[in-house]
Amino acid sequence: MSKRILCIYGTRPEVIKMAPVVQALSRRPEFEVRTCDTGQHREMSGPVIEWFGLRTDHQLGLMTPSQGLSQFMAQALAKIDEVLAETAPDLLVCQGDTTTAAAAALAAFHRQIPVAHVEAGLRTGDRHAPWPEEINRRVIDLVADRYYAPTRSAADALLREGVPAASILITGNTAIDALLWTIKKLEANSPAFASGHDRPFVLITAHRRESFGAGMQSIADALVTLAGRFPDTDWIFPVHLNPNVHEVMHTRLGGLPNVKLLEPLDYPRFCQLLSRCTFVLTDSGGVQEEAPALGKPVLVLREVTERPEGVAGGTVKLVGCSAIRIVEEATRLLQDPAALKAMSVPGNFYGDGTAAEQIAADLAAVTSNGNGGKRFVVSPA
Ligand code: UD1
Ligand code: UDP
Repeated sequence: MSKRILCIYGTRPEVIKMAPVVQALSRRPEFEVRTCDTGQHREMSGPVIEWFGLRTDHQLGLMTPSQGLSQFMAQALAKIDEVLAETAPDLLVCQGDTTTAAAAALAAFHRQIPVAHVEAGLRTGDRHAPWPEEINRRVIDLVADRYYAPTRSAADALLREGVPAASILITGNTAIDALLWTIKKLEANSPAFASGHDRPFVLITAHRRESFGAGMQSIADALVTLAGRFPDTDWIFPVHLNPNVHEVMHTRLGGLPNVKLLEPLDYPRFCQLLSRCTFVLTDSGGVQEEAPALGKPVLVLREVTERPEGVAGGTVKLVGCSAIRIVEEATRLLQDPAALKAMSVPGNFYGDGTAAEQIAADLAAVTSNGNGGKRFVVSPA
């Protein structure tokens, strides 16, 4: 009898990182896969769902403008609980550290449905950075039954918190599966893989809640200075739809000739630009994983990161939100070819593109010892 697995996503990065898992699980006859989209990112995740050809079985449509964390969490808990009641899954799979993922894990826990956590064990050790994600991750890892750690250091963090070693599998990050699959598909259609942007450019993204206000202003100040100092470089910035980002960036940077403020890009287009840029300025988690895989230096607009491997490998540098520091480090990369070259070394820190297959194979192994085929126990492999 097949096992029913419910995969939950809601934001753009969750869709990107969950898509390879849904695909890998769906290839196995022992699983009946259902998907649920909370709709946390109604606009931004739609094109990604389409790109990966995901079929969404349950669309909760929960996004509201400028949504509050508790308001969204409360709605997500209630609505996911309804989906759990209706579908009665044998297992729930959530990814990462968003409010969608934390609500899903809690809702499953309340119904005593086993939880598998993809991208388990990421920690900064600072519960306010990233906020609220650091606590979301810990909550999910308190209730999870099976832990898919992307790296050794993530697995070590889980072990330190008392998670049994037998419940953890180090797989790499499914972000790399999605990236390699996407690049391959784009390369197969090579004319479309042209950058479409002839001038040298720096790619920028920013959206962290703990940087709203002064931090975002400071990032904008740095970009004003850099754009003026380097008029032959374009500063391409697909702006997150969160009004706390969108309004600040459009007000401060709109009208600067070499700052290109764009709407959020389709994932394949973003991958194209990432593979062609000089370097990246970002506070994104996912981009910190993708850029090193493509040999692109990253200046991280945060004080701490839960992804230390890129920093240790020399491709990633933490610069925080101080305008002075951002300008200094970006200037170094643009003026000193040796500094740029030293950070432009491809690094396989976050996996080899087989994470989702490993997860599907592991779930097949640990769920095959079901309890009379009714409810199955996620036991150590
Ligand atoms: C959320 C996640 C964060 C993740 C980020 C990825 C939480 C608490 N935060 O960030 O972990 O890194 O997504 O991007 O789960 N909006 C739209 N359309 C969209 C998406 C957002 O209009 O498609 C606007 C809405 O006004 C929405 C606001 O952006 O209320 C914020 O969306 P939200 O999902 O809360 O994003 P973040 O917390 O910024
Ligand atoms: N991304 C995208 N379009 C954009 C910006 C980013 O498709 O305009 C992708 C990017 O390749 C990465 C993911 O979105 O896979 C990162 O999302 P985000 O930075 O919003 O969230 P985080 O990773 O910080 O949770």
